[in-house]
Amino acid sequence: MRFGHFDDERREYVIDRPDTPLPWINYLGTEAYFGIISNTAGGYSFYRDARLRRLSRYRYNNAPFDFGGRYLYLRDHAQDGAYWSPTWQPTQTELDEYECRHGLSYTQISSAYRNIKAQVSYFVPLGETLEVWRLRLTNERSPDQADSVAELSVFSSVEFCLWDAQDDATNFQRNFSTGQVEVVDGVIYHKTEYRERRDHFAYFACSEPLAGFDTARESFLGPYRSWDRPIAVERGASSDSIAHGWQPHGSHHVRVTLEPGETREIGFVLGYWENPRDAKFDPPGSQTINKHMVRPVIARWLQQETVDAGFRALREQWDALLGGLQVATPDGDTDRMVNIWNAYQNMVTFNMSRSTSFYESGIGRGMGFRDSNQDLLGFVHMIPERARERILDIAATQLSTGGAYHQYQPLTKRGNNDIGSGFNDDPLWLILGVAAYLKETGDTSILEEPVPYDNDPGSEQPLYDHLQRSLRYTLERLGPHGLPLIGRADWNDCLNLNCFSETPGEPFQTTENATGGVAESVFIAGQFVLAARELAGIAALVGRPGQEYLDAAEKMAGTIAEHGWDGAWFRRAYDFHGNVVGSASNDEGQIFIEPQGMCIMGGVGVEDGTAATALASVRERLATPHGIVLQQPAYSSYRVELGEISSYPPGYKENAGIFCHTNPWLMIAEAIVGNGDGAFDYYKRILPAAREAISEVHRCEPYVYAQMIAGRDAPTHGEAKNSWLTGTAAWNYAAVTQWILGIRPELTGLRVAPVIPADWPGFTAVRRFRGATYNITVQRGAERSLTVDGEARDPDSVLPLAPAGAISEVILTIS
Ligand code: BGC
Ligand code: NOJ
Repeated sequence: MRFGHFDDERREYVIDRPDTPLPWINYLGTEAYFGIISNTAGGYSFYRDARLRRLSRYRYNNAPFDFGGRYLYLRDHAQDGAYWSPTWQPTQTELDEYECRHGLSYTQISSAYRNIKAQVSYFVPLGETLEVWRLRLTNERSPDQADSVAELSVFSSVEFCLWDAQDDATNFQRNFSTGQVEVVDGVIYHKTEYRERRDHFAYFACSEPLAGFDTARESFLGPYRSWDRPIAVERGASSDSIAHGWQPHGSHHVRVTLEPGETREIGFVLGYWENPRDAKFDPPGSQTINKHMVRPVIARWLQQETVDAGFRALREQWDALLGGLQVATPDGDTDRMVNIWNAYQNMVTFNMSRSTSFYESGIGRGMGFRDSNQDLLGFVHMIPERARERILDIAATQLSTGGAYHQYQPLTKRGNNDIGSGFNDDPLWLILGVAAYLKETGDTSILEEPVPYDNDPGSEQPLYDHLQRSLRYTLERLGPHGLPLIGRADWNDCLNLNCFSETPGEPFQTTENATGGVAESVFIAGQFVLAARELAGIAALVGRPGQEYLDAAEKMAGTIAEHGWDGAWFRRAYDFHGNVVGSASNDEGQIFIEPQGMCIMGGVGVEDGTAATALASVRERLATPHGIVLQQPAYSSYRVELGEISSYPPGYKENAGIFCHTNPWLMIAEAIVGNGDGAFDYYKRILPAAREAISEVHRCEPYVYAQMIAGRDAPTHGEAKNSWLTGTAAWNYAAVTQWILGIRPELTGLRVAPVIPADWPGFTAVRRFRGATYNITVQRGAERSLTVDGEARDPDSVLPLAPAGAISEVILTIS
């Protein structure tokens, strides 16, 4: 069952009923000011950091799931005083028409009720720290009907957050007494704590003269009421309340008269502003906000022409970004995901990491070290300069041991001490991230950038030194089998082999109850082989010695063959006591997906056929119609020696859920062994667009990946969860574009090496690469051949680099 459809022309997903199985959301903002918004206008906004600078309040784990947002109300004065929300929530009035269009960084919700058509558009203009809500009202009543002239009231509503979202949700004895606002010229200024250490405030403005306003939540809602029936709306009048403590809130009241056929637009602007410290107040010495700098900004964005131009600029920016790669394949779902939605999700994960979604509260996790390195794979071709900056930020949180903080805060860019380090895969991801950047850009100057360790001034070393320490970190931490020690965890955060927790509530990943353990990871071993080979390639590129990396990779591959191969697949790990994990000899958790993918991506077993054997085992034991589960059999009980993985009921999350992030590793592995049908088959199983028709089962948005789909052991098999912020986005993008379609940046240039399904006649693509444009045609023919701008080339070579600005015609014939 579908709840909407794709409008590829406009690059929108169109939702045609408000009661989607879960809130289907979108993101506003691409630079510094961000918001999340659901298909019924739920969500919140923040400046840079969802925890420390949250503008509007949102309550997670609410009932209904999505409640609180950028709400508007319409009230009909001529008849019985009926009121409704044009975005359905929060009044849930049964609308005559409803449509939500989620586009690239904007959302537009339209509805009709009582022959009043309303369309609300939300977006964040480029270069600004504000969001625009544009309401367009049309009276569609016929002139001869009663009350044909519509006498309407419009009310807006935003509940302010007192900046630090964590504190806002917990520290009520203080917070109930700090709230402050100003209302000047119809603009509502939220200035809690501005009197003291903050120099920022929020504002909420409206383009029309006001009939009234409210800034005290209780005055707007009325005691014992919620947003579904605010007293001000019911009564048709605000009370011009000024908040003192309690809950500052912003609401404008505008009266509108519409003749039949008449249309009016009303603009609202919600924004964030920082004043210079020494110019906070006006007059100086007072406690009144200095509004000289913000006023012109507000005035500009209340004008329709500015809004129209701002919206166009946003669309143009997306045209330019998506222009990095556009494909036309025989599969429509592939095209719309590659050309639009997967690329878009990659940009969102770049901006948000794992901090803010409807499943990530914005206060828990900052930027993940490994996550951010992997996200790079998905956006480096669109925004190489920002990828460069991101790499340097990440590397600056690396520790001098070569280890890494597991997370860092986006606002301070400092490593997060609460979680700390000791996830032994983390440092290796830095090598893979840098390799991805170099392959895309060829910009080897980044390797010479001085980057500190742990942000410690004076500790700067060239980035290349960081990469070397990353490899050394693994080599200095090998266990009894010669495999890398796992530390707190490897990629699988929930396989906690050194934890042994029996205390309720203890964090699995930061608790190390046992010491002296020798738990080893075959996954890290595979990742090490991959990373060491990448570093050797980088070394060769810049004329540095790299043989020792190749030797180390070779040796590790041998160790995997000896201690990591189980007979029909790669083992997962050895636990604290030296017992094998992920082996036929285990009663549960016999085979895991991760080492199969990572070892084969590292090239282990490709020559001697073990890779093909492992892939056959995956197909037989792990593949389901909804994707490949993480391991089998699922753990049926808690196992103290394995940790969090066994805390989940079977089929969920790391305990045999379809952890989508890992699926593309198997697509790549299938492509590496030349199986295009197999790779594409796995691709389609979890492809959101291809699952649109089973939205009642999948439940999450059909336009973006979710972290997890419930595995075959779960009663809800096929149900997706935790949409949007997941490494799944970048890896699937890499799998389909670089390995299935085979348009693959390498250190020496762009390669075209497709491994496509047997029944595809070919495809075309336009790829921007290092400043030039490549028009690529892949076709079938008797003989394998390659021509570039009419000249025959070796089909197994990288494309000759075209000069910046040039357009190169590439025709690859495959048999
Ligand atoms: C989740 C993982 C996540 C980790 C880190 C765990 O509880 O199951 O998927 O990576 O927390 O936040
Ligand atoms: C989600 C985390 O963000 C990621 O870093 C981790 O690898 C997976 N969960 C698997 O545990």
